[in-house]
This record gives sequence, structure tokens and C-alpha cells, in this order.
Amino acid sequence: MVGFRRASGVLIVVLVVMTTTIANGTAPDPKGGKEPGPTGATAPVTATAPGAALGAKGGSLDVKASGAKGDGTTDDGPAFMAAWKTACEAGGTITVPKGEYLVNSVEFLGPCKGPVTLEMHGNLKAPATVKAVKEHSGWVNFDNVADFTLNGNGAIFDGQGSLAWKANDCAKTGTCNSLPINIRFTGLTNSLIKGITSKNSKLFHVNILNCKNVTFEGIGIDAPPESLNTDGIHIGRSIGIKLNGAKIKTGDDCVSIGDGTEDLTVENVECGPGHGIAIGSLGRYPNEQPVKGVIVRKCIIKNTMNGVRIKTWPGSPPGIVSNILFEDITMDNVGTPVLIDQEYCPYGHCKAGVPSKVKLSDVTIKNIKGTSATKVAVKLICSKGTPCTNIALADINLVHNGKEGPAVSACSNIKPITTGKLIPAPCTEVGVSGP
Ligand SMILES: *[C@@H]1O[C@H](CO)[C@@H](O)[C@H](O)[C@H]1NC(C)=O
Repeated sequence: MVGFRRASGVLIVVLVVMTTTIANGTAPDPKGGKEPGPTGATAPVTATAPGAALGAKGGSLDVKASGAKGDGTTDDGPAFMAAWKTACEAGGTITVPKGEYLVNSVEFLGPCKGPVTLEMHGNLKAPATVKAVKEHSGWVNFDNVADFTLNGNGAIFDGQGSLAWKANDCAKTGTCNSLPINIRFTGLTNSLIKGITSKNSKLFHVNILNCKNVTFEGIGIDAPPESLNTDGIHIGRSIGIKLNGAKIKTGDDCVSIGDGTEDLTVENVECGPGHGIAIGSLGRYPNEQPVKGVIVRKCIIKNTMNGVRIKTWPGSPPGIVSNILFEDITMDNVGTPVLIDQEYCPYGHCKAGVPSKVKLSDVTIKNIKGTSATKVAVKLICSKGTPCTNIALADINLVHNGKEGPAVSACSNIKPITTGKLIPAPCTEVGVSGP
């Protein structure tokens, strides 16, 4: 986790104005500044006009008929854009036959006049060259589309990021957002995305922002552990997102959940290598919206730095995290399987010692089993200024097999409500419990 420099104040103001048109005044920069914000290209989300959908029934369009070569060397971006334009004008299906389609940055922009389906049987490939892009922009972008279906059939979106990771010097400079995010979904409503894999992204793999009622199924994320800032799936300022079924191997958080996320379900996700499944970081910037109603369940987390965690910055403006459930999760050799960290401060980019004002309440952590790679398996560090309330632990069995002895819990500013069998023993007071 590296601190990122934000865009200039002037740019932020512009982004706020653009964002408000689609997201009711949400903050410009979730996820501690590394969060990809909106691109400039945002128009209001408009549901398909009822009349337009009825009259317009587009047929099926083959990208090869629009001029795509699929030979892995020709830039097929213009052909994809041409097919999209036609489909978007009436609704219809774009088919992508088998092949390797090299595309430079592409934007599939709505609103469209009828439902559009992208049916893929081939793979997309980005140029490997490292070119600085506008902050927070993406390689493949889907913007402001309603009733959209992406049927990947296993299609790979290969960002060819290995050169970019070597060039990524954000640990030194504090700016990492000038590399493209692999796939961005911005302002989608009532849509279904399934059967795609994001591979070797230059920066984040998949970013979901300002979306409403979108389901993601059968998603693959694939990058080596040493890839930098390659968060798997980031969700922010979105309502009613379902992520059901994902296999995520990457160099940063597998799933990260930013401000303004409500009514999110994450299920059947396999994570590792990576940094785990995280809510946050939150509280780095003003005007962050609450995170409410998040369910993470039936996941397997393996060989990762963390398991499930909530992280907020010290010295933060007020914020809210409530109604969170982490349930039925298997940990296999995970650094810190259960972690609340309200003193999250990577690289010292915070006002350490000033308590976080992000309020955590109604969090249930239930049926978590497996192995912890370190002795402190359950670590609950809440804010001194705004202690956590109503945090429930139930049926936890986390084993540590190390020379340091069995697993323990550590906590501060929290009195968890405990039920069922808990290994390690919970701490009820500030301090460390267990043998
Ligand atoms: C949510 O989106 C799906 C398409 O994925 C659609 O079938 C469903 O009707 C939508 N639900 C609502 C409440 O609009």
C-alpha cells in the first residue's frame, strides 16, 4: 500500500462536479487516494427510455465485419468502437470470434438505445509499452450503460503489465495512478458481467464505480504476487453489486471496498496470493460516503498477507462503516486472518496518534476457520476517539503452528460480543489474550 498524491485541487473540483451528476455528490477519491476516480467522460446515467427499447431491436454484429483482424498485432480498437456505436444506437449483440485482439485504450460509452450484449470468444490484449495516461483512466472502459451484458466465455483481458511494474516507482514518488487500470465499469446499471479474466494488469485489474444493480460472475484475476498495486476488484460508490464467483491471484488486495458502497455481496471468492479482502482504506479524505450493508461469505483465502479486514486512517474526518458480515471463510496460511485496523498508516502518510473518526458498528465475524501464519490471528484495533460498537465474533477456529506458541487475539477500544467457540480466545479488554 503506497500513499498516492492526489490530483491538483483544481482538478478535484472539476471531478466533483462531474461525479455529482451520476452519484449524488460523492467524494472524488476513495481508497486512500489510490482509488481510481471517475474519468472525465461521465454523462448522467439514464435508464433506457421505455419506448426506445421496444422499437429498436438490433441484430448480431461481428467485430470482424467491422474490420477487426484478431491477429494480435493490428490495433482493433477502432473496429470495436465501430461495432459498439452501431449496437448502442439500437441495442443488439456484438460477437467477438476466436482470436487475439490487440486494442489500445477503448471506451464503450452509453447511454444506449436498447440492451447491448458483448459476446466474446476471443481475447483482448493491451500494448505492452508503458505510456503515462491520465490519472485514474482505464484500458478497457465501460461507461454509463444500462441493461448491458458482457458474456466473456472465459475471455482474457491481458494488460501485459510486466514492464509497467518495473517502471512503477510510486513507492518513491507517491504517484501511481498514471498507469491504466485494466477494466473499468463506471455508471453501469442493471447489468451482468460474467466469464472474464483480467491478466497482468498494469495497475488495478477491475474497478467498479458509480454502478447500480450489477452482477459479476465467474471472474478471474491473474497476476504474480510481485506485481505492484494490482488490486483485483475494487468497488466504490456503488449500490446493489453482487460478486459471485471469482478466482483472484494478484499483488495487492483481492477485493477492496471503498466509500459509498452499499448493499454489496461478495461470495465464493478464492483469494491468494494477494493481500486479502478489505473494506477501506477509509477516512483519508473528506466527504467519504458510508459503507453499509456488505456481506462477504463462502470465501477461501490462501497464502495472503491478510484475510478479512477493515482499515481506516488515523486523523480522519468522520465516516461510517456499518452492517458488515464476514461469514464462512476458510483461511490457509494467512498473515493476519481477521483484522480491524483503525491505525492504518502506510509509509507514515497520516497524522499518527490522532484517532480515526470513522465509526465501525454492527460488524459480525462468523465461522472463520483455518490457519494463521502469525501468532496474532485476530487483531481488532479500534479508534480511541470513536470506539467500535456491536462487533460480534462467533465460531472462530484459527490455528497458528509456530515456535511462538498458539494463536492469540489482540484488541484495543473494543468489547466484542462473543458467541460459540472461539480459538484464539477473544480479548475482552485492551490488550492481548490467550496463552
Ligand atoms: C437488476 O439487473 C438485472 C440484470 O442483471 C435485471 O434483470 C433486474 O431486473 C434488475 N433489478 C432491478 C431491481 O432493477
